[in-house]
Amino acid sequence: MNQQLENATVDYLRTLRDLGAQTVEVSAATFDALKSRRKKSPPLPVRRTTSAAADDERRESRRPAAVSAAAPIAVPAAAGDAPPLNLDSAQKAAALEQLAATISANAEYRAMFKYAKNMVFGVGAPDAQIMFIGEAPGADEDAQGEPFVGRAGQLLTKMIQAMGLQRADVYIGNILKYRPDMPPGSSGNRKPTMDEIAVSRPYICEQVRIIRPKALVALGNTAIEGLFKTGRAAITQRRGQWTEFQGIPLMPTYHPAYLLRNPVNSEKRKVWEDLLQVMARVGLTVSDKQRRYFLTK
Ligand code: URA
Repeated sequence: MNQQLENATVDYLRTLRDLGAQTVEVSAATFDALKSRRKKSPPLPVRRTTSAAADDERRESRRPAAVSAAAPIAVPAAAGDAPPLNLDSAQKAAALEQLAATISANAEYRAMFKYAKNMVFGVGAPDAQIMFIGEAPGADEDAQGEPFVGRAGQLLTKMIQAMGLQRADVYIGNILKYRPDMPPGSSGNRKPTMDEIAVSRPYICEQVRIIRPKALVALGNTAIEGLFKTGRAAITQRRGQWTEFQGIPLMPTYHPAYLLRNPVNSEKRKVWEDLLQVMARVGLTVSDKQRRYFLTK
């Protein structure tokens, strides 16, 4: 296990311990790595699993313990799934600010992304009715510290405008708060690893818990995988069908990057139909013109 991953694992274990967990199960490799640092800083009592398959299975079923709903600001940043909060607009703004500060102070999390320039927390209205959740910052987002500002982001912005809204009316966030490292000298972006997703997940859970929008929109496979801790999510099968996350209606749809790769009306229409459902769900008026967007004659 490399040092960064080891540090991130220890950080996660400490969070679970703070949340009241007594034991957790880890793979043989993790167990051996943690055993060697046990004397210096005792982590949780860990139990070794027997196989990688068993490890995967348990990874799916492990849930961070719930924390008190009465303490939104003091909640450990990596709290994960916890009881819903009911905050007013000013409290939401303060809680988000506090969460952003907590994440940027997490040196071990930061260290997992050694080429990232900026933390990309999220942007928009703290009391937004609609929250969009993407995968991870890319190069443009990393440079500007704001989610969805590159090509895919510009398309997302157009989609939001087509709904009759502005970016500032909604909230936009990602599963990861830093751009996943690419090999030095290479361009482009890569899909986050399972470990990057697992370590980041509590933060997006906490953002959703604070904002509590009327509807969530999960953009692409990684958003679904990150939120629901599924293995590979089949967005083609899940898109267009409402599900729930933290008791909030969630609409899975294609990532705008997919539409950039497949810029045909039939695919745009699918995403648009998903967004029409979102508009109806939060009570936005849908005009006849809007209803017909991307319908081929
Ligand atoms: N893709 C994402 O998933 N998120 C961003 O912020 C940018 C591109």
